Formats: sequence, structure tokens, C-alpha cells
Amino acid sequence: MNINNVTVIGAGTMGNGIVQVFAMYGFKVVMCDISGPALERALGTIQVNLDRMVKKETITVDVVNQAMANIQIETELSKAVKNADLVVEAATENVNIKLDIFRKMDEGAPEHCILASNTSSISITQIASVTKRPEKVIGMHFMNPVPVMKLVEVIRGYATSDEVCKQVMSMSETLGKTPVEVNDYPGFVANRILMPMINEAIYTLYTGVAGVHEIDTVMRLGMAHPMGPLALADFIGLDVCMSILQIMHQGLGESKYAPCPLLVNMVTAGKLGRKAGEGFYVYEANSKEFKVSTKFLKK
Ligand code: CAA
Repeated sequence: MNINNVTVIGAGTMGNGIVQVFAMYGFKVVMCDISGPALERALGTIQVNLDRMVKKETITVDVVNQAMANIQIETELSKAVKNADLVVEAATENVNIKLDIFRKMDEGAPEHCILASNTSSISITQIASVTKRPEKVIGMHFMNPVPVMKLVEVIRGYATSDEVCKQVMSMSETLGKTPVEVNDYPGFVANRILMPMINEAIYTLYTGVAGVHEIDTVMRLGMAHPMGPLALADFIGLDVCMSILQIMHQGLGESKYAPCPLLVNMVTAGKLGRKAGEGFYVYEANSKEFKVSTKFLKK
């Protein structure tokens, strides 16, 4: 089966990044979200990102025009998936929302259609269990920012067929990505390793070993990470980090995955990182600059 028509559910940061990549590589993409304004904003973001690539002479104006022409928007899920060969769900990371979307996708999409989820932590096997085609349900975990990061973590649910896995691996290569196949256990591979590092960085701050700037500088300059773990936690969203840690704690049953009390407090206080304007750092709208939150500066 050839994959020509792709539908992406969710027009947030991950959704619009995924749409951009498919559209740039020549796929017809339907971007679906329940919010019309969110779809319009997402189109604007994609246009800005593509224009930036033209300025850097990475792509031509023709590629941009073709990519934009490949994108359609739709607010009704049943219409959006009607002609799809592949659906990538990138909606809110909430298990009940995802299960509901997968039930609807399963009802509305053609029989041959592969149903993928961009979930960072919810079990693919659980998602597949609410559909009548568990062998065609798979994880396609893109990384943020999607147009930049090379990895697609391809997650096989318990029932995912070899054929579907092969198709999704080769489709990811068509998008200029490097797919890596992993099995469906809490945190998969990316977050199983990343989140304990972030949690440990937060513990290092919490127990007074060093400050925010110091911890991030050690990891950036000592380990050549592009961002320190605390800046990365802010970038991902502290609520997302906490929720992934909780899923790993519950699913793997080991206390080492329990979120640091400081992380829990920050989430409770609404200091969710970059999207909230404050986490370990404070962020100003429309600026790339950020500085350590006064909460973590020595008095
Ligand atoms: N679309 C297209 N291009 C983008 C972009 C976007 N949304 N965001 C950044 N870029 C491009 C920039 O144009 C720039 O391109 P050039 O190198 O050609 O100039 C390049 O990416 C670098 O961007 P900047 O110069 O703006 O900033 P930077 O050098 O500080 O890099 C970064 C920013 C790419 C985010 C880098 O800091 C980085 O790689 N950070 C780590 C990101 C990471 O770990 N992501 C994974 C998070 S975990 C996850 O997503 C999954 C999960 O389940 C939690």
C-alpha cells in the first residue's frame, strides 16, 4: 500500500511541525483540530518556519508554495480521516482524549489506514485496544522542534504487525528522518533515559548542590548538550515532564522515577516552563533571550 494522503490530528507545536515536514516532502496533508483559530495559527507558524528556511537558502520559494498548497485544514475529525492512508495523532497528552480520538479515527478512516500516535508516554497497546485494527496501530514519536530533530522513535504495540512497522520505518526515512524501532514499555527509550536525567538535574537544584545556571552550564559545556537539562525541561513543559515521570513510576514500579518534589511544586504553582513564561527561567514573549527565575537566584 502506498501512503499518499496523511492526516495529522492536533495543530499545536508537535502537530504543526509534523504537518510541515509531510507537506515539504510532497504529501497531501489534512491538518485537523477542533479549534479553527488554532488551525489558522498553525498555518501561520508553518509559513514563518518555511520562509525562514528560504532566507537561509535551504529551500526555494517554489518548495514553500508547493508545501503550503499540500495542506488542507479541517475541524471535523470524521471528514479529516475519510481518505487517509496514514493518520498521525498529535493531540493533547491525555489518555482519555487520545482513546476517544482513536475510537473516532478507527470508525472514520478507511480499512487500510495506519493509525499512528505521537504520544511521548501513553501505551500504544492501550491505545490500540480501543480500535478494531490493533495490528495497524503504532507510535511515531517525533521530537521537538520537529523540522529540526532527526529522530522518529517508532513504537511497536503488542499487536503491531511487521508489515505496518516496516512501512512506518520507511515512511519516516522518506521524510529525511532516522527512525528507530522500540518496544512499548513506559517511557519507550527516549523518555526512559531523558526524564531521569532531567529529574536528577532538578534534584541537584533542590538539594542545593548547584544553581540553575551552573547545572545547565555543566551539561552544555561538559557533555555538549545543546541545552542544559533545566532549560530543556522548560522547553518540553514541566507538566509534561512530571506526567511522563508519573507514568514511568506507576508502570515500572520503581521509586527512582518519582518526580522530584520541587518539580511537583512548580507544576502546582503553574510555573510550567517556556509556554507559561516561567519555569527555571523567565521568558519574554517574542524573544529568544531568557534568564534564571529570581526564585532560584542567591539572595
Ligand atoms: N522549525 C524549523 N527550524 C527551526 C525551528 C522550527 N520550529 N526551530 C529552530 N529551527 C532551526 C533554526 O532556524 C536554526 O537553523 P540553522 O541551524 O540552519 O540556522 C536551528 O534550528 C537552530 O535554531 P536556533 O539558532 O534558533 O537556536 P539553537 O541553536 O539554540 O537551537 C534547538 C535550538 C534546535 C531547539 C536546540 O537548542 C536543541 O537541539 N535543543 C534540544 C532539543 C531537544 O532535545 N528536543 C527533544 C525534546 S524531547 C521531545 O521532544 C520528546 C518528548 O517526548 C518530551
